[in-house]
Amino acid sequence: MEPEYHEDKESPNFFLPSRYSDNFKFAVSVLAAVLLFVLGVVNVVPSHDPSRRLGLTIQDESPSCKDPIVRQEWRTLDNTQKQIYLKSVQCLWEQPSVLGLNQSLHEDFSWVHSRMGNFSHNTPAFIAWHRYYLHIYERALQERCGYTGYLSYWDWSLDWEDMAKSPIWDNTTGFGGNGNINSDKSVGNGHCVTDGPFANRTLHYFGTEYREHCLSRRFIHGSRLETTFGLKVHPEAVERVLLEPDYESFNAALEDGPHNAIPRAVRGDFLRVTAPNGM
Ligand SMILES: *[C@@H]1O[C@H](CO)[C@@H](O)[C@H](O)[C@H]1NC(C)=O
Ligand SMILES: *[C@@H]1O[C@H](CO)[C@@H](O)[C@H](O)[C@H]1NC(C)=O
Ligand SMILES: *[C@@H]1O[C@H](CO)[C@@H](O)[C@H](O)[C@H]1NC(C)=O
Ligand SMILES: *[C@@H]1O[C@H](CO)[C@@H](O)[C@H](O)[C@H]1NC(C)=O
Repeated sequence: MEPEYHEDKESPNFFLPSRYSDNFKFAVSVLAAVLLFVLGVVNVVPSHDPSRRLGLTIQDESPSCKDPIVRQEWRTLDNTQKQIYLKSVQCLWEQPSVLGLNQSLHEDFSWVHSRMGNFSHNTPAFIAWHRYYLHIYERALQERCGYTGYLSYWDWSLDWEDMAKSPIWDNTTGFGGNGNINSDKSVGNGHCVTDGPFANRTLHYFGTEYREHCLSRRFIHGSRLETTFGLKVHPEAVERVLLEPDYESFNAALEDGPHNAIPRAVRGDFLRVTAPNGM
């Protein structure tokens, strides 16, 4: 199904519908499975494995996890927890690249997401790849920036009525707001974000290009906000995704539905496969 996204004429959206053959998708998922298996067997990061950190042993393998980590929705954190989280994300911007790039550790994440983007989207590996990616990001917060909590997440469905009012965009207890239309134009049809903890931040990649620019956002509004975002993240729409009967249809429904709604509604840096830049 062709998404109704036609916003960014100058820079076509990365999040295109599936156009890879089933054989190609199969090959990629086999590769991903082999990679995950190898990582599991050699146990690259034994001391950081969450199950070990929790002191679980083989005998503890039971149908239900004991004390699983809990990732909290942004608005359930108190203001102090939010500040600590935001400081840790800022800290990732102060850490040097571990990939030999000339930028920060935070931009390593956008770069990897963009280089792997053609293999981690529109494939069965979409969910598995992103799960592991977020795990690495969470560990970077903990190990490089001393963060002692876990990743926080945004429950989009709580904001289906008006994304712009979401507390995640708060200037002081969130990730800063919309692009400022009185400020410079930036990538993805957006303007520089001039408030919040990431105000005026310089980024170096947009999609597959090296392109210095300021952090860019431009929320869509009006009736298009409802069709692009509201209807895709409405609690009932999310429920329909969760009711998909098998992995493949769940994977596809999640990617095409709520996942694609976010870049199309936030725009700016979110529009391209360097979307992790958009925070
Ligand atoms: C790397 O970054 C530094 C500091 O921002 C800059 O002076 C230098 O020109 C950059 N080097 C390259 C190769 O981009
Ligand atoms: C991903 O595929 C698109 C379309 O074929 C191509 O233009 C782009 O350069 C590819 N990205 C990377 C990082 O290889
Ligand atoms: C960001 O830049 C704008 C001008 O483009 C300026 O007015 C604003 O004070 C800056 N914000 C911060 C937090 O530096
Ligand atoms: C965020 O900051 C901008 C610019 O400083 C200001 O115009 C806006 O009212 C602030 N928003 C909130 C919710 O505090």
